[in-house]
Amino acid sequence: MIERLRALSFRCFEAVDIAPSAGVNVITGDNASGKTSLLEAIYFLGRGQSFRQSGPRPAIRRGAAAFTISADLAVDEGRAHRVGVQRDRQRIEFRIDGESGASRLDLVNLLPLQLVDPNVHRLLEQGPRYRRHFMDWGVFHVEHAFFPAWRRYRRALKQRNRALKSRRPKTDVIAWDAELVRSGEIVDASRRAYIEYLERKLPAQAKQLLGDEAVHLDYAPGWSGDDGFGSALVSHLEQDRRAGFTQQGPHRADLRVSVASASARDWVSRGQQKILTTVLLLVQARILYERRGLQPILLIDDMAAELGRHYREALAEEIVAAGGQCFLTFLEPALVPEALADARMFHVEHGGIAQVSRRPTC
Ligand SMILES: Nc1ncnc2c1ncn2[C@@H]1O[C@H](COP(=O)(O)OP(=O)(O)OP(=O)(O)O)[C@@H](O)[C@H]1O
Ligand SMILES: [Mg+2]
Repeated sequence: MIERLRALSFRCFEAVDIAPSAGVNVITGDNASGKTSLLEAIYFLGRGQSFRQSGPRPAIRRGAAAFTISADLAVDEGRAHRVGVQRDRQRIEFRIDGESGASRLDLVNLLPLQLVDPNVHRLLEQGPRYRRHFMDWGVFHVEHAFFPAWRRYRRALKQRNRALKSRRPKTDVIAWDAELVRSGEIVDASRRAYIEYLERKLPAQAKQLLGDEAVHLDYAPGWSGDDGFGSALVSHLEQDRRAGFTQQGPHRADLRVSVASASARDWVSRGQQKILTTVLLLVQARILYERRGLQPILLIDDMAAELGRHYREALAEEIVAAGGQCFLTFLEPALVPEALADARMFHVEHGGIAQVSRRPTC
C-alpha cells in the first residue's frame, strides 16, 4: 500500500503530499480539477507510464522543467520501499530506495495496480487487444513461466514476420517455428491455468452484482484446429506468406466474456458492463492476493459515471469487501456511496489536494 504520496509539477498540480489510508480513499473535485491526474500519478509509479494516449511529456506542469512523483510503500511483514519517477524533457528515470536505474518491470513487480477508467467497457466492446492485456496482467503476476516465454515468443514472432514481409524463402520463415511453438505453448499453458482459476473464482463475486445470470469466460488460444499450435503454423504457411505476417498464434488470443449464453457486449447494459469489468478486476486482485500474497491497488476514475444509486452502492460494498487499498474519484460529494462513509476523503482544487475531515457538502 501507499503510505505517503508526493508529486511535484505533475499536470495541474504544483505539489501533492498526502497520506492515504490503507483502505478506501475518495477524491472529489470539479471537472478539470485534477482527479484523473492524481490517479495518473499513482499509475506512473506502478507502471512507469501514463494511461493517457499522449505519453509522459505533456504531464510536466506547464512552465516547469520536470515532474517528480514518489511514494513510500509498505509491503508485507514490515518491509518498506520508496519508489520514484522523474521525468524531464529528455528522459524518464525510475528509482527504488534511492537507487536510480530501476526498470519499468521493477515498478510493475513492486506496485501492482489496476485501473478502471470511464472507458472500461472497451474491455467487452472492442477488439481482443484489451482483453489480452487484461488477461496477461493477471497471468504475468501469477504464472512465473509466462513472462520470459512471452518475451521469447515476441522476439521470434518479430523475426518470422520480418522474413514473411520481405518475401524470404520458406526455410527462412519456418526456421523460427520451433522457438515460436516452444515459447508459445508455455504462454498458452500459463493463460489456460490462469483463466481456469479466474473462472472458478468469478461466479460468487459476479452474483452479488449481476444476479443469477451466469458469467462465462471463453478462452481462444489464437490458432485454429485441434492439432496444436505447431500444426496450425504449418497449415497456414502459404496464407502467411501471402499476407506477409503470422496469422496464427498466442499473439491473436482472446478472452470472450458471456453472460447467460449471450456475448456480454450484446447482452448487458453499459452500466452492467462497467460492473462486470470491475468485478473481473476485483477477482483478479483476489487471485493475486491468494496466489502471491500481493494486494494490488485499485484506481477507479469517475466511479459514479454510468451507474445509478443501486449499482453504485452494490459496487462500493464489493470494493470495501475486497479489502485492498483503492483510490476512487467522484465529481460530486453527493455521488459518493453510503458504503464508503468510512473512507478517507480528499478534495482537489486550484492545483492542490487536501484531506478533508468529512464529505464536503455541495
Ligand atoms: N502539463 C500540464 N500543466 C498544467 N496543467 C495541465 C497539464 N496537463 C493537463 N493540465 C490540466 O489539468 C487539469 C486537470 O485535468 P484532469 O483530467 O486531471 O481533471 P479531472 O478532475 O479528472 O476532470 P474531469 O472531471 O473533467 O475528468 C485540466 O484543466 C488540464 O487542462
Ligand atoms: Mg477526469
